[in-house]
Amino acid sequence: MKLIFKLSLFALLIFSCTHSKKEAQPEKPTPVNNHSFSNIEEIHTTHLHLDLTVDFTTKKLSGVARHKMENQGTNQAIFDVKGLKIHKVTTGDSENEKSRDFKIGPGIKNTILGQPLIVNIDKNTSFVNIYYETTEESEALDWLDSALTSSKNKPFLYTQGQAILTRTWIPIQDAPSNRITYSADLKVPSDLLAVMSASNPKEKNTEGNYHFDMKQPIPCYLIALAVGDLVYGDLGNQTGVYCEPELLDASKYEFEDLPNMMKAAEKLYGKYAWEQYDLLILPYSFPFGGMENPRLTFANPTLLAGDRSLVSVIAHELAHSWSGNLVTNETWNDFWLNEGFTVYFENRIMEEIIGKRGADNLALIEFFELREELERIENSGHPEDAHLFLDLDGRDPDDGMTDVAYVKGAFFLKTLESKVGRDKMDVFLTSYFNHFKFTSVNTQKFVSYLEKELLQKYNIDFNYEEWIYQPGIPKSCIDLKSDGFESVKEMSSAFVNDEIAEKWENLPFNKRSDYSVQEWLTFIRHLPSDIDNEKMKILDKNLAFSEWTNAEIQFEWFMKSISSNYSPAYPYLKSFLEKIGRRKFILPLYEALYKNENTRKKGLDWFNEFKKNYHAVSSNSIAKALKL
Ligand code: BES
Ligand code: ZN
Repeated sequence: MKLIFKLSLFALLIFSCTHSKKEAQPEKPTPVNNHSFSNIEEIHTTHLHLDLTVDFTTKKLSGVARHKMENQGTNQAIFDVKGLKIHKVTTGDSENEKSRDFKIGPGIKNTILGQPLIVNIDKNTSFVNIYYETTEESEALDWLDSALTSSKNKPFLYTQGQAILTRTWIPIQDAPSNRITYSADLKVPSDLLAVMSASNPKEKNTEGNYHFDMKQPIPCYLIALAVGDLVYGDLGNQTGVYCEPELLDASKYEFEDLPNMMKAAEKLYGKYAWEQYDLLILPYSFPFGGMENPRLTFANPTLLAGDRSLVSVIAHELAHSWSGNLVTNETWNDFWLNEGFTVYFENRIMEEIIGKRGADNLALIEFFELREELERIENSGHPEDAHLFLDLDGRDPDDGMTDVAYVKGAFFLKTLESKVGRDKMDVFLTSYFNHFKFTSVNTQKFVSYLEKELLQKYNIDFNYEEWIYQPGIPKSCIDLKSDGFESVKEMSSAFVNDEIAEKWENLPFNKRSDYSVQEWLTFIRHLPSDIDNEKMKILDKNLAFSEWTNAEIQFEWFMKSISSNYSPAYPYLKSFLEKIGRRKFILPLYEALYKNENTRKKGLDWFNEFKKNYHAVSSNSIAKALKL
């Protein structure tokens, strides 16, 4: 209700935009269902069929979205649209289509949510077909010229739907509480392969026509598409990888453990529900480390570190096949049910793959980040963002994408595990996934299930409320320790405090292989933010962090370089920002450049120059941070 009110106010401020056949009068407030205008209580899509042409010259998708719907007897179907051009709407199956009146808005054009598309239907209508094309404002889409791909000779397209961008490439009821099956017929240039979060082809065909089926019902933020010069490599045991041809060997090497991860995951929480599990290696502009599109995780090429040191991101996306894709957050306020469970599950998979010590180190790194994040949130305009259960009404659901959902969520489950014991925890989680499979769950439903199936059953006293409805990290939180991290922290302090000055020219810790990537990250982070340039120079000479082919290491080093005004790193930083679009790296880097008066102009200039290389998810966040 609150949101309806805010939206109506918003509508008064902004000009109304209507494409209706008849000029529509602003009418009763449009139904709003947490970040969606759709009226899914009255009518909802059960199956979507897309019939689309992918045109790289005009950078447009065009065609029709055919919605098969379950109608409770309403004469209006409301969809979400943002940045789409709607040509016509019909009802009826493809042999009996009848044109229908529709209106967009009216009176509502929300910068976050977009607009409702309202179609007049009959009380028994069950097919609604929307003819449309995408525009430059279709923020889900990243159209890359060939220069931004690995091969540099074929263009690339991919989509990013989560959280509420699917409505920018498909007119749809864009709420995670509704599940649909989907199919698609796509026409793409004949030298490119199309893949989706569905059954996929393994090679190109000469016509460039591809058919897709997703037979299990999914929330629509998981509909995904990519088109490019792709090849497929099998990794065994229903897993494989799609990538540009020159990345195939590196990808097969990096992700060789995928079948083992699958085995570990199934052993933990039951059978994988989606038949095939493949990875798709995207170009560098991809704004996330990974995205759990069902059957086909989208992965950032920065994961190809050459030493398998960043594969926990893949464990994470695989884990989403249970937490998120099988059992889905009902609203974006319940985002922690997706991500917190997934980070917990990811860590359990990693424990199987690299052992308990390595997995604890990964978790600890995240825990340090959580503490910093909580400090930031406490001093922000929204201290309540430190609760697991969020209130994102009227805000961009992206705002909820913090370490609270991820890491506080995971530590909630780790702490619960330590309280009840691993055996009971695993039985509980397996039954949770099984009980709620192919449905959406909210925080309240989870709490009731937890009470009934775990706490009351075994008479366990656990204060979940302080985790879920209060800020900060509860006192009960488990405490992890790492000898490795303690020793690199000591090494870092000793170096800074001149205790090993006599060995400056040739540091005793100058071999990369002596420490793990996570230990090196801890070492760099532990250096003071205003560390001397002389010291930075010595590190540079001995360890050359700027040149590591590990984006996590480069990122930490560049952050330290900016805060300490160490300019010899800037040419490397510039190349990094030119090439990489992953928001987790480039947003903090631009923020740091902006914060430092010496580098503010550089940051602004570089962003201006490179923003064309980024997906809208990243460039919009950065533009906001740079107050553009
Ligand atoms: N589902 C998320 C990415 C996401 C969340 C996109 C919200 C849009 C809105 C994905 O699973 C994710 O969490 N990716 C992380 C990986 C990490 C935590 C291991 C990333 O990209 O950094
Ligand atoms: Zn995730």
